[in-house]
Amino acid sequence: MDSRCRLGLWRLPLLAAAWAGLLVCRYYAVREPDPGPRRHGACRRPPALALRRLPHSRQLFSLSTPVLLWDGLFTQELWDSLSQRKAPYGWQGLPHQAIASALRLLNSPESAELFPASGKPRPSCVRCAVVGNGGILNGSRQGWLIDAHDYVFRLNGAVIKGFEDDVGTKTSFYGFTVNTMKNSLINYGHLGFTSVPQGRDLRYIFIPADIRDYVMLRSAILGVPVPEGLDKGDKPQTYFGPDAPAGIFKLLHPNFIRYLRERFLRSSLIDTEGKDVYMPSTGALLLLTAVHTCDQVSAYGFITRNYRKFSDHYFELRKKPLKFYANHDLLLEAALWEDLHKAGIIQLYQR
Ligand SMILES: *[C@@H]1O[C@H](CO)[C@@H](O)[C@H](O)[C@H]1NC(C)=O
Repeated sequence: MDSRCRLGLWRLPLLAAAWAGLLVCRYYAVREPDPGPRRHGACRRPPALALRRLPHSRQLFSLSTPVLLWDGLFTQELWDSLSQRKAPYGWQGLPHQAIASALRLLNSPESAELFPASGKPRPSCVRCAVVGNGGILNGSRQGWLIDAHDYVFRLNGAVIKGFEDDVGTKTSFYGFTVNTMKNSLINYGHLGFTSVPQGRDLRYIFIPADIRDYVMLRSAILGVPVPEGLDKGDKPQTYFGPDAPAGIFKLLHPNFIRYLRERFLRSSLIDTEGKDVYMPSTGALLLLTAVHTCDQVSAYGFITRNYRKFSDHYFELRKKPLKFYANHDLLLEAALWEDLHKAGIIQLYQR
Protein backbone atom coordinates (compact mmCIF):
# COMPACT_ATOMS: atom_id res chain seq x y z
CA MET A 1 0.00 0.00 0.00
CA ASP A 2 1.45 3.40 -0.82
CA SER A 3 1.39 6.25 1.67
CA ARG A 4 -1.32 8.18 -0.17
CA CYS A 5 -3.67 5.27 0.25
CA ARG A 6 -2.86 4.76 3.94
CA LEU A 7 -3.52 8.46 4.50
CA GLY A 8 -6.78 8.08 2.68
CA LEU A 9 -7.82 5.21 4.91
CA TRP A 10 -7.31 7.03 8.18
CA ARG A 11 -9.15 10.01 6.72
CA LEU A 12 -12.13 7.93 5.79
CA PRO A 13 -13.88 8.02 9.21
CA LEU A 14 -13.35 11.79 9.31
CA LEU A 15 -14.88 12.16 5.88
CA ALA A 16 -17.76 9.95 6.89
CA ALA A 17 -18.32 11.99 10.05
CA ALA A 18 -18.25 15.24 8.07
CA TRP A 19 -20.67 13.81 5.54
CA ALA A 20 -23.01 12.61 8.29
CA GLY A 21 -22.77 16.03 9.92
CA LEU A 22 -23.67 17.70 6.67
CA LEU A 23 -26.68 15.43 6.27
CA VAL A 24 -27.83 16.22 9.81
CA CYS A 25 -27.42 19.94 9.14
CA ARG A 26 -29.39 19.65 5.92
CA TYR A 27 -32.07 17.70 7.75
CA TYR A 28 -32.47 20.42 10.36
CA ALA A 29 -32.24 23.14 7.75
CA VAL A 30 -35.23 21.54 6.06
CA ARG A 31 -37.08 20.76 9.27
CA GLU A 32 -36.57 24.09 10.98
CA PRO A 33 -36.10 26.86 8.49
CA ASP A 34 -34.58 30.09 9.70
CA PRO A 35 -37.48 32.23 10.89
CA GLY A 36 -36.25 35.19 8.83
CA PRO A 37 -36.47 35.62 5.10
CA ARG A 38 -34.34 32.75 3.83
CA ARG A 39 -31.63 34.79 2.09
CA HIS A 40 -29.46 31.82 1.27
CA GLY A 41 -32.12 29.18 0.90
CA ALA A 42 -33.57 27.86 -2.30
CA CYS A 43 -36.05 30.17 -3.93
CA ARG A 44 -38.73 28.50 -5.93
CA ARG A 45 -41.95 29.96 -7.07
CA PRO A 46 -44.60 28.78 -4.60
CA PRO A 47 -46.85 27.09 -7.17
CA ALA A 48 -43.95 24.88 -8.23
CA LEU A 49 -43.57 23.77 -4.63
CA ALA A 50 -47.29 23.39 -4.26
CA LEU A 51 -47.57 21.14 -7.24
CA ARG A 52 -45.22 18.71 -5.59
CA ARG A 53 -46.27 18.93 -1.96
CA LEU A 54 -49.97 19.73 -1.79
CA PRO A 55 -52.38 16.98 -2.68
CA HIS A 56 -54.80 18.10 -5.40
CA SER A 57 -52.70 21.19 -5.93
CA ARG A 58 -53.01 20.89 -9.69
CA GLN A 59 -56.61 21.89 -9.22
CA LEU A 60 -55.62 24.52 -6.64
CA PHE A 61 -53.22 26.81 -8.49
CA SER A 62 -53.85 28.55 -11.77
CA LEU A 63 -51.21 31.01 -12.84
CA SER A 64 -53.12 32.11 -15.92
CA THR A 65 -55.69 34.10 -13.94
CA PRO A 66 -54.51 37.74 -14.01
CA VAL A 67 -54.09 39.19 -10.52
CA LEU A 68 -54.67 42.82 -11.48
CA LEU A 69 -57.28 44.48 -13.66
CA TRP A 70 -56.30 47.42 -15.87
CA ASP A 71 -57.35 49.16 -19.04
CA GLY A 72 -55.63 46.65 -21.31
CA LEU A 73 -57.89 43.84 -20.04
CA PHE A 74 -61.13 45.84 -20.16
CA THR A 75 -63.00 44.50 -23.18
CA GLN A 76 -66.67 44.19 -24.11
CA GLU A 77 -66.31 40.46 -23.48
CA LEU A 78 -65.08 41.09 -19.93
CA TRP A 79 -67.93 43.52 -19.33
CA ASP A 80 -70.45 40.95 -20.55
CA SER A 81 -69.11 38.19 -18.31
CA LEU A 82 -68.51 40.27 -15.18
CA SER A 83 -71.89 41.96 -15.34
CA GLN A 84 -73.33 38.52 -14.56
CA ARG A 85 -71.76 38.45 -11.08
CA LYS A 86 -72.09 40.58 -7.99
CA ALA A 87 -69.14 42.55 -6.58
CA PRO A 88 -66.45 41.75 -5.54
CA TYR A 89 -66.59 38.97 -8.15
CA GLY A 90 -68.11 41.12 -10.86
CA TRP A 91 -70.13 44.18 -11.78
CA GLN A 92 -73.75 43.08 -11.66
CA GLY A 93 -75.97 46.15 -11.31
CA LEU A 94 -73.05 48.59 -11.44
CA PRO A 95 -73.07 51.46 -13.96
CA HIS A 96 -70.85 50.88 -17.00
CA GLN A 97 -69.78 54.54 -17.04
CA ALA A 98 -68.35 54.46 -13.49
CA ILE A 99 -66.43 51.21 -14.06
CA ALA A 100 -65.15 52.18 -17.51
CA SER A 101 -64.01 55.66 -16.50
CA ALA A 102 -62.00 54.21 -13.61
CA LEU A 103 -60.43 51.40 -15.64
CA ARG A 104 -59.53 53.68 -18.57
CA LEU A 105 -57.24 55.59 -16.19
CA LEU A 106 -55.32 52.42 -15.29
CA ASN A 107 -53.57 52.53 -18.63
CA SER A 108 -49.86 52.59 -17.87
CA PRO A 109 -47.72 49.42 -17.83
CA GLU A 110 -47.34 49.90 -14.06
CA SER A 111 -51.05 49.23 -13.60
CA ALA A 112 -50.59 45.72 -14.97
CA GLU A 113 -47.78 44.75 -12.60
CA LEU A 114 -47.59 44.65 -8.84
CA PHE A 115 -43.84 45.19 -8.65
CA PRO A 116 -42.06 48.11 -10.27
CA ALA A 117 -40.59 47.05 -13.60
CA SER A 118 -38.18 49.97 -13.97
CA GLY A 119 -35.76 51.55 -11.50
CA LYS A 120 -34.19 49.01 -9.16
CA PRO A 121 -33.44 45.65 -10.79
CA ARG A 122 -35.88 42.94 -9.76
CA PRO A 123 -34.28 40.73 -7.10
CA SER A 124 -33.69 37.18 -8.29
CA CYS A 125 -35.89 36.02 -5.44
CA VAL A 126 -38.74 38.34 -4.47
CA ARG A 127 -39.33 37.92 -0.73
CA CYS A 128 -42.56 39.32 0.65
CA ALA A 129 -43.96 39.77 4.14
CA VAL A 130 -47.70 40.20 4.52
CA VAL A 131 -48.59 41.77 7.85
CA GLY A 132 -52.07 41.16 9.21
CA ASN A 133 -53.22 43.00 12.31
CA GLY A 134 -53.67 40.04 14.66
CA GLY A 135 -52.92 40.27 18.40
CA ILE A 136 -50.25 37.58 17.97
CA LEU A 137 -47.90 40.42 16.95
CA ASN A 138 -48.15 42.20 20.31
CA GLY A 139 -44.73 41.71 21.93
CA SER A 140 -43.51 39.59 19.00
CA ARG A 141 -40.38 41.67 18.24
CA GLN A 142 -40.60 40.62 14.58
CA GLY A 143 -40.23 44.17 13.24
CA TRP A 144 -36.66 43.87 11.95
CA LEU A 145 -37.42 40.54 10.27
CA ILE A 146 -40.51 41.96 8.59
CA ASP A 147 -38.54 44.97 7.32
CA ALA A 148 -35.83 42.66 5.93
CA HIS A 149 -38.20 41.47 3.17
CA ASP A 150 -38.08 43.05 -0.31
CA TYR A 151 -41.75 44.02 -0.09
CA VAL A 152 -44.03 44.46 2.92
CA PHE A 153 -47.81 44.31 2.51
CA ARG A 154 -50.07 45.91 5.13
CA LEU A 155 -53.81 46.36 5.31
CA ASN A 156 -56.73 48.08 7.01
CA GLY A 157 -55.87 49.48 10.48
CA ALA A 158 -52.13 48.87 10.24
CA VAL A 159 -50.88 50.89 13.24
CA ILE A 160 -47.10 51.33 13.16
CA LYS A 161 -46.26 54.12 15.60
CA GLY A 162 -45.42 52.65 19.00
CA PHE A 163 -45.28 49.09 17.55
CA GLU A 164 -42.16 49.37 15.38
CA ASP A 165 -40.36 46.57 17.26
CA ASP A 166 -43.27 44.21 16.72
CA VAL A 167 -44.47 45.06 13.20
CA GLY A 168 -41.63 46.98 11.53
CA THR A 169 -41.90 50.26 9.65
CA LYS A 170 -41.58 49.40 5.97
CA THR A 171 -44.73 49.48 3.84
CA SER A 172 -44.57 48.70 0.13
CA PHE A 173 -48.25 47.94 -0.40
CA TYR A 174 -51.36 48.95 1.50
CA GLY A 175 -54.48 46.92 0.65
CA PHE A 176 -58.09 47.77 1.48
CA THR A 177 -61.63 48.32 0.33
CA VAL A 178 -62.89 51.87 0.78
CA ASN A 179 -65.23 50.45 3.41
CA THR A 180 -62.48 48.73 5.44
CA MET A 181 -60.13 51.71 5.08
CA LYS A 182 -62.66 54.24 6.33
CA ASN A 183 -63.91 51.92 9.08
CA SER A 184 -60.32 51.45 10.25
CA LEU A 185 -59.80 55.22 10.44
CA ILE A 186 -63.04 55.59 12.40
CA ASN A 187 -62.64 52.61 14.73
CA TYR A 188 -58.89 52.60 15.34
CA GLY A 189 -58.07 56.30 15.08
CA HIS A 190 -57.92 56.58 18.87
CA LEU A 191 -55.54 53.57 18.94
CA GLY A 192 -53.11 55.19 16.52
CA PHE A 193 -54.49 54.56 13.03
CA THR A 194 -54.85 58.26 12.26
CA SER A 195 -53.96 58.10 8.57
CA VAL A 196 -53.54 55.68 5.71
CA PRO A 197 -49.84 54.84 5.18
CA GLN A 198 -48.20 57.17 2.67
CA GLY A 199 -44.72 57.29 1.18
CA ARG A 200 -42.75 57.69 -2.01
CA ASP A 201 -42.39 53.96 -2.69
CA LEU A 202 -45.82 52.99 -1.46
CA ARG A 203 -48.44 51.38 -3.72
CA TYR A 204 -52.16 51.01 -3.02
CA ILE A 205 -54.10 47.83 -3.74
CA PHE A 206 -57.82 48.50 -4.20
CA ILE A 207 -60.12 45.55 -3.55
CA PRO A 208 -63.23 46.27 -5.65
CA ALA A 209 -65.95 45.19 -3.23
CA ASP A 210 -68.39 47.91 -4.23
CA ILE A 211 -69.02 50.71 -6.72
CA ARG A 212 -67.43 52.97 -4.07
CA ASP A 213 -64.04 51.44 -4.80
CA TYR A 214 -64.19 52.24 -8.53
CA VAL A 215 -65.44 55.78 -7.84
CA MET A 216 -62.73 56.44 -5.23
CA LEU A 217 -60.04 54.97 -7.51
CA ARG A 218 -61.03 57.24 -10.38
CA SER A 219 -61.13 60.32 -8.13
CA ALA A 220 -57.75 59.42 -6.60
CA ILE A 221 -56.08 59.19 -10.01
CA LEU A 222 -57.68 62.43 -11.20
CA GLY A 223 -56.96 64.14 -7.89
CA VAL A 224 -60.51 65.43 -7.56
CA PRO A 225 -63.07 65.15 -4.76
CA VAL A 226 -65.38 62.11 -5.00
CA PRO A 227 -68.29 63.35 -7.15
CA GLU A 228 -71.04 60.95 -6.13
CA GLY A 229 -72.17 58.12 -3.90
CA LEU A 230 -71.46 57.29 -0.27
CA ASP A 231 -68.07 59.03 -0.25
CA LYS A 232 -69.23 62.17 -2.06
CA GLY A 233 -67.01 65.14 -1.22
CA ASP A 234 -64.10 63.03 0.16
CA LYS A 235 -60.71 64.33 -0.92
CA PRO A 236 -58.58 61.34 -2.00
CA GLN A 237 -55.39 63.29 -1.13
CA THR A 238 -56.30 63.01 2.54
CA TYR A 239 -55.92 59.22 2.17
CA PHE A 240 -53.23 58.77 -0.48
CA GLY A 241 -51.17 61.96 -0.22
CA PRO A 242 -50.95 65.03 -2.46
CA ASP A 243 -48.72 63.47 -5.12
CA ALA A 244 -50.43 60.30 -6.30
CA PRO A 245 -49.71 59.34 -9.92
CA ALA A 246 -51.94 56.69 -11.56
CA GLY A 247 -49.19 54.07 -11.49
CA ILE A 248 -49.26 53.75 -7.70
CA PHE A 249 -52.82 52.42 -7.74
CA LYS A 250 -53.44 48.72 -8.35
CA LEU A 251 -56.81 47.02 -8.63
CA LEU A 252 -57.42 43.35 -7.84
CA HIS A 253 -59.18 41.61 -10.74
CA PRO A 254 -62.72 40.44 -9.87
CA ASN A 255 -61.90 37.15 -11.61
CA PHE A 256 -58.85 36.70 -9.40
CA ILE A 257 -60.96 37.29 -6.29
CA ARG A 258 -63.47 34.74 -7.57
CA TYR A 259 -60.71 32.23 -8.33
CA LEU A 260 -59.37 32.65 -4.77
CA ARG A 261 -62.82 32.09 -3.34
CA GLU A 262 -63.49 29.03 -5.49
CA ARG A 263 -60.11 27.32 -5.12
CA PHE A 264 -58.76 28.37 -1.74
CA LEU A 265 -61.59 29.71 0.40
CA ARG A 266 -64.73 27.95 -0.71
CA SER A 267 -66.61 28.44 2.53
CA SER A 268 -69.71 26.45 3.42
CA LEU A 269 -71.30 29.90 3.81
CA ILE A 270 -71.57 29.84 0.00
CA ASP A 271 -74.36 27.27 0.40
CA THR A 272 -76.36 29.35 2.90
CA GLU A 273 -78.29 32.56 2.63
CA GLY A 274 -75.06 34.28 3.65
CA LYS A 275 -73.67 33.53 0.20
CA ASP A 276 -74.12 37.05 -1.12
CA VAL A 277 -72.21 38.72 1.69
CA TYR A 278 -69.45 36.11 2.06
CA MET A 279 -66.02 37.06 0.77
CA PRO A 280 -62.47 36.27 1.83
CA SER A 281 -61.08 38.82 4.33
CA THR A 282 -58.85 41.70 3.21
CA GLY A 283 -55.89 39.93 4.80
CA ALA A 284 -56.67 36.67 3.01
CA LEU A 285 -56.93 38.40 -0.36
CA LEU A 286 -53.59 40.13 0.14
CA LEU A 287 -51.78 37.06 1.45
CA LEU A 288 -52.98 35.01 -1.53
CA THR A 289 -52.06 37.89 -3.87
CA ALA A 290 -48.53 37.69 -2.46
CA VAL A 291 -48.51 33.89 -2.89
CA HIS A 292 -49.32 34.39 -6.59
CA THR A 293 -46.78 37.16 -7.24
CA CYS A 294 -43.79 36.77 -4.86
CA ASP A 295 -41.24 33.97 -4.83
CA GLN A 296 -41.24 33.59 -1.06
CA VAL A 297 -43.96 34.69 1.36
CA SER A 298 -43.98 35.19 5.14
CA ALA A 299 -47.29 35.83 6.90
CA TYR A 300 -47.31 37.78 10.17
CA GLY A 301 -50.32 38.65 12.29
CA PHE A 302 -52.61 36.13 10.59
CA ILE A 303 -55.04 33.88 12.41
CA THR A 304 -53.53 30.72 13.90
CA ARG A 305 -55.10 27.70 15.54
CA ASN A 306 -54.37 29.16 19.02
CA TYR A 307 -55.97 32.53 18.23
CA ARG A 308 -57.76 32.55 21.60
CA LYS A 309 -54.45 33.31 23.30
CA PHE A 310 -54.23 36.67 21.54
CA SER A 311 -56.16 39.89 21.29
CA ASP A 312 -58.23 40.75 18.20
CA HIS A 313 -55.56 43.28 17.11
CA TYR A 314 -52.01 43.90 18.34
CA PHE A 315 -52.71 47.58 18.95
CA GLU A 316 -55.57 47.24 21.41
CA LEU A 317 -55.01 48.53 24.93
CA ARG A 318 -56.53 45.51 26.61
CA LYS A 319 -56.96 41.97 25.30
CA LYS A 320 -60.20 41.62 23.32
CA PRO A 321 -61.50 38.39 21.83
CA LEU A 322 -61.22 37.99 18.05
CA LYS A 323 -64.36 39.27 16.32
CA PHE A 324 -65.95 36.95 13.79
CA TYR A 325 -67.95 38.75 11.13
CA ALA A 326 -70.74 37.11 9.16
CA ASN A 327 -69.11 38.03 5.84
CA HIS A 328 -65.85 36.16 6.48
CA ASP A 329 -64.88 32.61 7.39
CA LEU A 330 -61.81 33.09 9.58
CA LEU A 331 -61.65 29.47 10.75
CA LEU A 332 -61.47 28.31 7.15
CA GLU A 333 -58.71 30.88 6.60
CA ALA A 334 -56.84 29.60 9.69
CA ALA A 335 -56.95 26.05 8.29
CA LEU A 336 -55.71 27.28 4.89
CA TRP A 337 -52.74 29.16 6.39
CA GLU A 338 -51.77 26.07 8.35
CA ASP A 339 -51.96 23.89 5.21
CA LEU A 340 -49.96 26.35 3.12
CA HIS A 341 -47.38 26.62 5.91
CA LYS A 342 -47.04 22.84 6.17
CA ALA A 343 -46.65 22.61 2.40
CA GLY A 344 -43.83 25.18 2.51
CA ILE A 345 -45.75 27.67 0.39
CA ILE A 346 -45.88 30.34 3.10
CA GLN A 347 -44.03 30.78 6.35
CA LEU A 348 -46.73 31.49 8.95
CA TYR A 349 -45.63 33.33 12.08
CA GLN A 350 -46.85 31.33 15.08
CA ARG A 351 -46.12 31.37 18.79
C1 LIG B 1 -49.74 42.92 24.90
O1 LIG B 1 -48.73 42.25 25.60
C2 LIG B 1 -48.58 42.69 26.95
C3 LIG B 1 -47.38 41.99 27.49
O2 LIG B 1 -47.46 40.61 27.34
C4 LIG B 1 -49.86 42.42 27.72
O3 LIG B 1 -49.73 42.87 29.04
C5 LIG B 1 -51.00 43.13 27.03
O4 LIG B 1 -52.23 42.81 27.65
C6 LIG B 1 -51.08 42.75 25.57
N1 LIG B 1 -52.07 43.54 24.90
C7 LIG B 1 -53.03 42.99 24.19
C8 LIG B 1 -53.97 43.93 23.53
O5 LIG B 1 -53.15 41.79 24.04
